[in-house]
Amino acid sequence: MPGPVAIDRPPVVDAVELVPPAPGKNLPPRAFTSPEIFALEQRAIFARSWIHVGDLGDLPAAGDYLTAMIGATPVIVLRDPRSGELRGFLNACRHRGAQLLEGRGSCGKQIQCPYHAWSYGLDGHLIGVPYRDQFDCDLSQLGLVPVRVGSVGPLIFACVDPTAPSLDEWVGELAPAFAQRGAERWQLAYELTYELPVNWKLFVENANEGYHIPVVHDVLTDVLAPDTDVTTLEAHGAFTYVRVKPELVPPPFDPMQTKVRFGHLFPSFIPVLTLTDVTYLRIDPLAHDRMRLFVRCYDDPTYAHLRDFRRAAFERTTAQDIEVVQKTWRGLHAVGLPAGVHASRLEARIGHFERRWATAMARELVDDRQVARSPALAVAPA
Ligand code: FES
Repeated sequence: MPGPVAIDRPPVVDAVELVPPAPGKNLPPRAFTSPEIFALEQRAIFARSWIHVGDLGDLPAAGDYLTAMIGATPVIVLRDPRSGELRGFLNACRHRGAQLLEGRGSCGKQIQCPYHAWSYGLDGHLIGVPYRDQFDCDLSQLGLVPVRVGSVGPLIFACVDPTAPSLDEWVGELAPAFAQRGAERWQLAYELTYELPVNWKLFVENANEGYHIPVVHDVLTDVLAPDTDVTTLEAHGAFTYVRVKPELVPPPFDPMQTKVRFGHLFPSFIPVLTLTDVTYLRIDPLAHDRMRLFVRCYDDPTYAHLRDFRRAAFERTTAQDIEVVQKTWRGLHAVGLPAGVHASRLEARIGHFERRWATAMARELVDDRQVARSPALAVAPA
């Protein structure tokens, strides 16, 4: 039986060797600042993952649709008027590729292309073609390209890779965490959008470590009990439970068991879950040096009177995060700066994220079989 196949030379993109960093070590600065790395991420990371695209509340009625980007890929998610189920398609016409829909709204009875007026039923079938007799092909085969969609609690995810794991597997413990709290009953409390001139991974990594909390965040330091964090690494993400200071826990909650769940779903979704609300941060990659932060908070309406306080606390904390992330972005451009390092417990999720990232990037460039056999390219334990 043949032994493991060693990869003599790992794939290299813009001087970044695509191998998972050694334990305790980080990716080199160029992995964050390179436009070539960013271009590869669109297909190796985003087009291979389940990506949050919206929420169930965005599609309340039959025929409603939303549009979203999965990396560089435009997609449509709509509510099928017959079954009420979610359907997903590439947001691209089968004639010559024009984007079909923008924003959110109602499809009515069909989707019509704004370029030459091909029209599609809401099941994706092509139903109308002007000058049909001029096309020498089987038009019945030119329906919209389907995209996988699914929901977890109030959240909708989509995936353009038919070979990716199921959504259930992707979200791991988040689904039971939502179910346990009855999150599907929660209401939209607020929504925020930011745009930052930094690489998307820097914000993901900032949200994946508690090491900076006592230094940067006064509100979180006031609320969270120090050194109570317990982290679990999952195949496609990670989460950390941290206890709330017992003296701040109101009845009827157990002061010794009330925790905040700080989560991450690969690559760029950050759900923060308490017993009565969820705030999510979705980090959208816009360019190698630009990202959008999209935030929504849903809460148990019983605690709606706390919304203004929680929103103010979130905005203050985010402003503090933005400041340190921008400092990091500037520092990573220092010529001659070697790769950084991370703390074994408080920054364990950064190592997990970077190993997952490097494995996916390499897999896109190297023969799958060879990657699977190579210990150097396997996701290493924390
Ligand atoms: Fe859509 Fe021509 S590109 S009808």
